[in-house]
Amino acid sequence: MTVPDAERRSRLQAALLSPSIRAAVEPNRIADIRQRVLEHSSAARKPTTGIIAGIPDLDWSMSMVTRSNRLVALPLLALLCLASGSLADQQVTGPGVFKYCRGCHGERAMGGDGGKYPRLAGLPAGYIERQLKAFKDRVRINKPMIPIFKNYRFDDEVIAVVARYLADMPPDSLSLWPYEVPQDALAAYPSRQAFAEAGARTYRDGCARCHGEDGLGSAAEATPPLVNQYPRYLDKQIDDFAAGTRRHEEASQCGSLEGPERQAVLDYLVELGRDAR
Ligand code: HEC
Ligand code: HEC
Repeated sequence: MTVPDAERRSRLQAALLSPSIRAAVEPNRIADIRQRVLEHSSAARKPTTGIIAGIPDLDWSMSMVTRSNRLVALPLLALLCLASGSLADQQVTGPGVFKYCRGCHGERAMGGDGGKYPRLAGLPAGYIERQLKAFKDRVRINKPMIPIFKNYRFDDEVIAVVARYLADMPPDSLSLWPYEVPQDALAAYPSRQAFAEAGARTYRDGCARCHGEDGLGSAAEATPPLVNQYPRYLDKQIDDFAAGTRRHEEASQCGSLEGPERQAVLDYLVELGRDAR
């Protein structure tokens, strides 16, 4: 008997969406069950394409199931029932959520690509939570991360769990040295030493009160560290604060620096991070 793919596909979708299945399963577990189905079908056939940052969607998992030519509607239903039973006890775990972050932020959450992706390991949990909520609400615009919030369950519980997991991860040291200061910034000062002193002074007068003399921020206040973070990333954040595309109460202070003075502070932060090692 050959059932056309299209028909089989629509039967499977109907089964997945049927009221009895929905009633048997907590609504927010549906996404997890889809993941189970996907994992089951891909055990027979490894997925290679059609997936964004490891996030499956219904259409894609359905096409894997139909293409594998092994599963038909009834065994799939049995699998769904089994999965719903075991998923009831399944916890959201830090490593489980972090799967969706590693591709960009790195295996050890130290970021990369010269600072396109920031370091996350060891940032204050309260700060990470606030950023994830701001990304989700599009208050802080972060286009690469939008698919995560669209395609995966990302509620407050998941956010709190991954924030705690990242905050508890001991950060490695970024090797930012030797750090190349932009020549035009250096040229605005009479000497390298004057440049270094100006950076230290501006930081201590304007930023240390909140980000700490040592640049380590404050876990209690959920204020981020500015050392051991990519200067290029920090530079972009200062631009975003200044432009108003990233907002918070102290943004006017965080976005106040321009030109050579900003570069002097970034250079100071790189040096401060080296001393802290
Ligand atoms: C597709 C790439 C990508 C993936 C996947 C990704 N991120 Fe990001 N993330 C970014 C980029 C790019 C930025 C920097 C945005 C900016 O420049 O403001 C960022 C910034 C962040 C920040 C802000 C850091 C700071 O110092 O303010 C946090 C927190 C964060 N990501 C957490 C996560 C978590 C948790 C996950 C997984 C659930 C994740 N990200 C997955 C690309 C990604
Ligand atoms: C009154 C306290 C305060 C002062 C003063 C302050 N900041 Fe901030 N800064 C914060 C807080 C709080 C955040 C986190 C904002 C958020 O949640 O988005 C922050 C965030 C930042 C970030 C983003 C870090 C990241 O990982 O994305 C940068 C960069 C920054 N500040 C630079 C500076 C600089 C440079 C100065 C000095 C010129 C400064 N700030 C002064 C409180 C302050």
